[in-house]
Amino acid sequence: MAATEADPSARQSGRGTGGIRFEDVTVAYNGNVVLDSFSLDVAPGEVVALLGPSGSGKTTALRAVAGFVRPASGRVYAGGRDVTDLPPYKRGLGMVVQQYALFPHMRVEQNVAFGLKTQKVAKSTIPGRVAEALRMTGMAQYAKRYPRELSGGQQQRVAIARALAIEPSVLLLDEPLSALDAQLRSGMLAELARLHRELPDVSILYVTHDQIEALTLADRIAVMNDARLVEVGTARELYKRPGTEFAAGFVGNSNLLPVTVTGCAPQPDGSFRATVRIAAEAEPVMATCTEPATVGEQRTLCLRPHFLGLTAAEHHDNAFLGKITEVQWRGSSHRVFADAQGHEVRLDTTELRNPPVIGDEVWFHFSTEDAVLIPAAASGLAPAAAAATTDPTAPTAAEPAEVSATLPASADGAAR
Ligand SMILES: Nc1ncnc2c1ncn2[C@@H]1O[C@H](COP(=O)(O)OP(=O)(O)OP(=O)(O)O)[C@@H](O)[C@H]1O
Ligand SMILES: [Mg+2]
Repeated sequence: MAATEADPSARQSGRGTGGIRFEDVTVAYNGNVVLDSFSLDVAPGEVVALLGPSGSGKTTALRAVAGFVRPASGRVYAGGRDVTDLPPYKRGLGMVVQQYALFPHMRVEQNVAFGLKTQKVAKSTIPGRVAEALRMTGMAQYAKRYPRELSGGQQQRVAIARALAIEPSVLLLDEPLSALDAQLRSGMLAELARLHRELPDVSILYVTHDQIEALTLADRIAVMNDARLVEVGTARELYKRPGTEFAAGFVGNSNLLPVTVTGCAPQPDGSFRATVRIAAEAEPVMATCTEPATVGEQRTLCLRPHFLGLTAAEHHDNAFLGKITEVQWRGSSHRVFADAQGHEVRLDTTELRNPPVIGDEVWFHFSTEDAVLIPAAASGLAPAAAAATTDPTAPTAAEPAEVSATLPASADGAAR
């Protein structure tokens, strides 16, 4: 079901030219479901980050696109084609994994040319494509070196150059920076952002469990947990209006307080304003929600540590009282912890002139706009899929025979 001119909607979605689409994709290893009815669209030219804890199924999702695992059900589209039944080498995708996966016996330029040769690109065009990929990644002067003569960051650039050389419309990046130290990582992050500006039509699926990478690079973030897609949205949406407790806790920091709803009123913009109490004896406070809340309902209030203010003076307007349990001075900022009616609350702020001390009773205040009531029945902590009990040492699922036929063991995981 490739995209056609007669089907413009296909081009808008990941099914169209250049994008990626997961349609209800389920992957199981020996009966253990590790990707559960996963559906996601990456539009042409879009960068989507798959963000989630270890074991949540991020790499599995990527490998389903690359062709290294065959879904038990569902379809995968990439570059405008249904690739579900294609072997990896026929998918024409670029992939970069954490461990570089360069061929140690080949020089940099040979590594970069490798994918072009397996794709049967005309011989005369190979040197030009290799040179261009090395230029884009800043590695032109290292063309003659062997991988062992390069630093980790340089090796990862070569891996990226190799993925780019085939001029893929889809680039799959699996924690490409996680083997690098913090300083190199932030430099490479800026370079990946620049590369994407240079190649605006390439769709990128970027696996990470680093929220800074996701927030920096991605147009949208897909949050995963326990083999499932929990929530997808722009970084701003997920940060400002998280729809699940899980996303609220995973994208940015948050105080998640159990509250009881005491009132709810619709707003002109279609949202709702709820009144909630964090304890029976506490003053009610106001929060924003995207759907109506019922009086008496137990819900979760999301308060970002940066959105809290602190005052010693009595403050009755959208505030609650807390007893300071810890004060951390962090140079340019302060982090303060308090106990509010039995709940631990954290506040992050620029350096305080007169910081409170442990044992002080202070008011934590916030604006209604910044306090979000998480929608009901959307904790994001859905019953754990079988993945949680998966034994990583169990024999692996049957993988397409073409994988081992086309890739040397040292390059497992790198699609060409
Ligand atoms: N070849 C395999 N055989 C059996 N189970 C596997 C195999 N590959 C992955 N799994 C299991 O599938 C689940 C998802 O793994 P996956 O590699 O997709 O997680 P991830 O989100 O990428 O985690 P991480 O952040 O640690 O890389 C895990 O429970 C893992 O143990
Ligand atoms: Mg992984």
